[in-house]
Amino acid sequence: MQTDFLRKISAMQLRFAMLAFLSLAIGAQGRAQVPSIAATPPMGWNSWNHFADKIDDATVRAQADAMVSSGMRDAGYVYINIDDTWQGKRDAQGVIHANSKFPDMKALADYVHAKGLKLGIYSSPGPKTCAGFAGSYGHEEQDAQTYAGWGIDYLKYDLCSFDEIMKRAGSPEVAHKLMLGAYTKMHQALLKTGRPIVFSLCQYGADAVWRWGASVGGNSWRTTGDISDKYSSMTQIGFEQAGLAKFAGPGHWNDPDMLEVGNGGMNLEEYRTHLSLWALLAAPLLAGNDLSTMKPETIALLTNKEVIAIDQDPLGKQADRVYAEGTEEIWARPLADGSKAVGIFNRFDWPQTIEISFGRLGHRGGVKARDIWAAKDLGALPNHYKVRVPGHGVVLLRVSE
Ligand code: GLA
Repeated sequence: MQTDFLRKISAMQLRFAMLAFLSLAIGAQGRAQVPSIAATPPMGWNSWNHFADKIDDATVRAQADAMVSSGMRDAGYVYINIDDTWQGKRDAQGVIHANSKFPDMKALADYVHAKGLKLGIYSSPGPKTCAGFAGSYGHEEQDAQTYAGWGIDYLKYDLCSFDEIMKRAGSPEVAHKLMLGAYTKMHQALLKTGRPIVFSLCQYGADAVWRWGASVGGNSWRTTGDISDKYSSMTQIGFEQAGLAKFAGPGHWNDPDMLEVGNGGMNLEEYRTHLSLWALLAAPLLAGNDLSTMKPETIALLTNKEVIAIDQDPLGKQADRVYAEGTEEIWARPLADGSKAVGIFNRFDWPQTIEISFGRLGHRGGVKARDIWAAKDLGALPNHYKVRVPGHGVVLLRVSE
């Protein structure tokens, strides 16, 4: 009788324990696989590359309008991000106010939200931003609350003058701790608001940020200095991302800086390289051009569905360099459906015929491939593929067995 009773109790306990374990395991797995924000690299637009300090309420509204009318919103671009120079003065209570270029930030957020888009903003952990406006130093919680009150969905947090505080730290170790502390502080402040706000770290890749960016709450972290609208700048940044793939994944991404596509400093092939490389790198796709005056070819580049699908692939595995030989670079990333995205880059000024061996990509026999930019199925290919690649250009393939 008693043993029966005990057996029943322990069977119940065992079942309960198993259920509890299972639900914890599923919960943890669910969280690990689908983070609530930035499950795929954030997509949107940022004011800095094109407008710099010439940004105001009317321009931001026009960008939101154009994001919808161009088809970019429907292609996946969501965030409209105001970069530096929006900040006005703090009032007697220390509350930050926007300057006269942004008369009503809440109304602007409402406008952007009504279009099915989200609004981003910019600050610094230092007393001043890079353009010399008020940073969040000593006002982190207050600022996070202000942003949440306005309806902000994304914060780019740029080291800038915090560097001065770090220089006074006495040692690199203390300086490093101070920097981590500053980012953690804002992360905590954002969490406290209860509003999901993407936290985008910007400190130019210092102290191997990819190793600790996620631990301070970063959904993305800049891995480099500022991009400029030149093939040399874009490729120097893009190709120097080799080796960083293992640090990125759903919820936390390497950020090689915003796009220059459409700003006029590169030709069509070079912008195609820019987008292909960023998509392979699972980089945030933040357009940096004037969306209200885009040429059809710029819209076509930015909204190419198959390229975006590579960037946004749910597996979230960033590409790495397979090999570089002279002016040829081969990069590949695994995709959720078991296929691979492969970039065949020509860094030479003139067209070249590049031959790749799928064996070097881990395929034993022949493969099936699709040329993404040509939107053409190549059918079954033997173990080698020879293709003409334009100068500074790329051939982007999707390859499966
Ligand atoms: C830094 C950042 C840029 C931009 C400017 C604004 O240089 O890296 O992306 O935000 O500041 O001042």
